Amino acid sequence: MSGIRASGFGVADLPKIVRGRGSYLYDADGKRYLDGSGGPAVFSVGHAHPEVNAAIMRQLEEVAYGYRYLYTSSALEELSATVLDLCGGEYQEIIYSCSGSEAVESALKIALQHFAARGLPRKRHFIARERSWHGNTLGALSVSSFAQRRKSFEGSLLDVSFVGAANPYRPPAGIAPADLPRVLAAELEQTILARGPETVAAFIFEPIVGAAGGVVPAPAGYVAAMQAVCRRHDVLMIADEVMCGSGRSGSWRTLAHDGVVADIMAIAKGLAGGYIPLAATLCTGPVAAPILSEHGSFQTGHTFTGHTAACAAGLAVQGLIAREGLVERVRRRGAEFQTALRSALARFEAVGDVRGRGFFVGVEFVADRDTRAPFPRERALSFDIGGRAFRDGLICYPCAGNVDGESGDTLILAPPYNASDAELAEIIEKLTSAVGAALG
Ligand SMILES: Cc1ncc(COP(=O)(O)O)c(C=O)c1O
Repeated sequence: MSGIRASGFGVADLPKIVRGRGSYLYDADGKRYLDGSGGPAVFSVGHAHPEVNAAIMRQLEEVAYGYRYLYTSSALEELSATVLDLCGGEYQEIIYSCSGSEAVESALKIALQHFAARGLPRKRHFIARERSWHGNTLGALSVSSFAQRRKSFEGSLLDVSFVGAANPYRPPAGIAPADLPRVLAAELEQTILARGPETVAAFIFEPIVGAAGGVVPAPAGYVAAMQAVCRRHDVLMIADEVMCGSGRSGSWRTLAHDGVVADIMAIAKGLAGGYIPLAATLCTGPVAAPILSEHGSFQTGHTFTGHTAACAAGLAVQGLIAREGLVERVRRRGAEFQTALRSALARFEAVGDVRGRGFFVGVEFVADRDTRAPFPRERALSFDIGGRAFRDGLICYPCAGNVDGESGDTLILAPPYNASDAELAEIIEKLTSAVGAALG
């Protein structure tokens, strides 16, 4: 029986998923798919890991969930201690939710509550970046500049200021990539000053842009320069590490690579690796202190905040990652994976850029390598490649719109951290063959 109609990823008629094992998924017809993108960059330790499943089962046999206003739990307490420790003690508070959008929503609300608690209720405005994606709830969508995904909701979104993306492959006209940190920090400062620093609450960004950019790591020096501007004007910095974080980029916190600690950080996908939905928002002591002393608690969260079985899943996933040294493996093997992918794709003129960090790698396709002009939007090249790969048994994550919100073709690879060397090689081989077939 055929599945429901889908509208993306180049897959028209969805097959029915029945089983997952390690880096592979199987549909009802017995067809096997190698999960080259960890779904949407979620599956940090692959599918159906017996240790994670056993930990969830143990928790379910005791109790599935204790409501956060009535109970704490060992799973929640141990996961909180583990995550705060993985962040090197830079964060003091962690607030759970069930999706990346909710984690971003909490991050925005914590920033607002922080300023309200400090007696600065005029600080309400958010600054975000072009070519960004922060989620589908109205607040998270408001700070996202993904034109296609915003279109139906324009008019009801928050009034947000957008500053330029930090993309060394597509810098603004006349700007050298090395000048991006200086130029973009100046733009942020101008935006804050034009709006009035007394009205600006926070600047939100993805340390490595995911779906809206096709894996674009912040250039060296950019985050520190942006943070210096924020500090000067008492504007909080929010790092959205929902896609790039929790080890995927080769350091547990992505911004550890940049030597920066954002005031507030959102994490989700890889935290519990897709076993049960789990997300979290972390904030530093100075962000939390006025909130806790003025209001007693964070005014955010939902019924399922800190869901016990989800925390048990997160704890098991993080335990496995730590014991098997998987973040270190991602850092080491990621660089080799990217090099091998770049050389496999080098023969295609249409491959403009291969970039990323750790097991978070993007490929950008261009109609002209010199001008970097994108393919016509109607060609839907990334979805064509994604669809061909899927039919051939490889899951990747095609994205469109990275150039101007509408055109531009990129593709994300984000394998499980424990994908074997042979599986990584198979991802490259299958993707190369899909690219070759799509480009004729
Ligand atoms: C950077 C980033 N932030 C937030 C989100 C929203 O997460 P979710 O889809 O779990 O709500 C996503 C989802 O892809 C994301 O990539």
